[in-house]
Amino acid sequence: MNKFYLTTPLYYVNASPHIGHAYTNIIADCMARFRRMLGDDVFFLTGTDEHGEKIKKAAEANKEDINVFVDRVSENFNKLWAELNISYDFYIRTTDTKHIDTVKTVIKVLQDKGDIYKANYSAFYCVPCESFWTETQVKESGGCPDCKRDVEIIKEENYFFKLSKYQKWLIDYFKNNTDFVKPKTRYNEVLSFLEKNILEDLCISRPKKRVSWGVGFPENDDYVVYVWFDALINYISAAGYHTKKEEFKKFWPANIHFIGKDILRHHAVFWPIMLKALDVELPETIYAHGWWKIGEEKISKSRGNIVNPFDLISSLTTSLGNMESAVDALRYFFLKEVSVGLDGNFSWLALVNRINSDLANDLGNLVFRTLNMGEKYLEGRITPISSEMPIKFKDNLEKLESRYVDFMSNCEFSLALDDIFQFIGVINKYIEDTKPWVLWKEKKYDEMKNFLYSLVEGIRIISLYIYPVMPFTSLSIAKQLGIDENCISLDKRSWSEVKEYIIEKGKPLFPRIDVE
Ligand code: MSP
Repeated sequence: MNKFYLTTPLYYVNASPHIGHAYTNIIADCMARFRRMLGDDVFFLTGTDEHGEKIKKAAEANKEDINVFVDRVSENFNKLWAELNISYDFYIRTTDTKHIDTVKTVIKVLQDKGDIYKANYSAFYCVPCESFWTETQVKESGGCPDCKRDVEIIKEENYFFKLSKYQKWLIDYFKNNTDFVKPKTRYNEVLSFLEKNILEDLCISRPKKRVSWGVGFPENDDYVVYVWFDALINYISAAGYHTKKEEFKKFWPANIHFIGKDILRHHAVFWPIMLKALDVELPETIYAHGWWKIGEEKISKSRGNIVNPFDLISSLTTSLGNMESAVDALRYFFLKEVSVGLDGNFSWLALVNRINSDLANDLGNLVFRTLNMGEKYLEGRITPISSEMPIKFKDNLEKLESRYVDFMSNCEFSLALDDIFQFIGVINKYIEDTKPWVLWKEKKYDEMKNFLYSLVEGIRIISLYIYPVMPFTSLSIAKQLGIDENCISLDKRSWSEVKEYIIEKGKPLFPRIDVE
């Protein structure tokens, strides 16, 4: 059995989750479910990033004790993952004792190796981002290059990690591992950054008098560890680095770190160098997705345009009649609307249009009318005379079967869905062309049995392909077809794998939503 280790970023707990955060976890969940369907032993990690001044200030603004605050907000993320049916295996918090111990161990190892040193420092500092910037960077951006806010000049003594020592090695690593960062545009962006700039060593401490909420620096109580240095280490601490050596050997290196494009440099420059310095293998791939925007603006708390995912699920639940359909519709929208590497534009109208056309009209309608006919004409027992595949299905089904695994493995979820929905279209057309009511009128019962079997068998195959994207819907279809969950496996995707059906029609999966 192959192992598959995938991660999401750890979300800052300074505020509640928005749909941008939900997006990363939906992508990762789709991949995790797909890999489990392939039979892999999956370890899916998510969690929260809880240290740093920004979090402390948020707790103070809320007049809450910092520990109570981080527990509450972290739980809010966890609640969202439960609602969105995110099947993570481990939820890490950077305030976990085991993680804190790992961070300290890592620093000690790097200190012993001579890769950490102490020095005086003067630089521009952005408090909300907790990042240092050079004068040129600040001048070019007119403030913090990340959030555009004003920066402060700070002079202090700090600990530094020798990034510069590994620059040449990292460039070579990129050149020899062209799939290390995906998509290609992001790979090119990082490589060109590395080739055009001289890496400065990374300041990995913050004096306690300025930043008090963090992992204490080993053997120096006056400092805490820089939040990014602390947070990145989660990927190895969760997998058991220094605590569960056997498990670590089994799951590390990670197969995919899913991240947003805004945190690419931390993951594709700092992180590989930290691992190299530790003598730990590098992750296989870092996959950077795009942003969800409203108009031209990235959705973010600082821009004040966030869409609350709990409210969105609740509105969709009202429109669709149940929460399972609402969650699957949302997951479908995010994965179908744009390719993973590109930016997407979010609006209620785009969401409703997508649901009405693909899920209500095409998929929902196909399932509902097929099961309706099965009950009306054959009293729910579909026992074909011949289980041969209709010739009209052949091309599409073969295309789907041959491309699905590659598309899904490469995070091309939207393309996989294109193939699935083309097949749905073919079956819908087959119903119109065959005119079952005529078969019935002409008493062609054997043909009717074969016809309905073809529809139901086609729907079964569709239900297993959509599983990673819409798990509730997939299982609901399986239930209506009277088959058990074990049929949701890629080994069962061949035609006529199930020979007969006793069906039980449920409610329409996705009723149409009125567009105001
Ligand atoms: N805490 C760091 C990550 C540390 S990982 C070791 C962090 N947290 S975050 O909460 O600010 O962002 C987490 C993720 O959410 C990032 O991948 C970011 O790209 C993603 N998104 C935040 N807003 C987004 C959109 N509007 N659209 C898509 N994803 C976005 O960074």
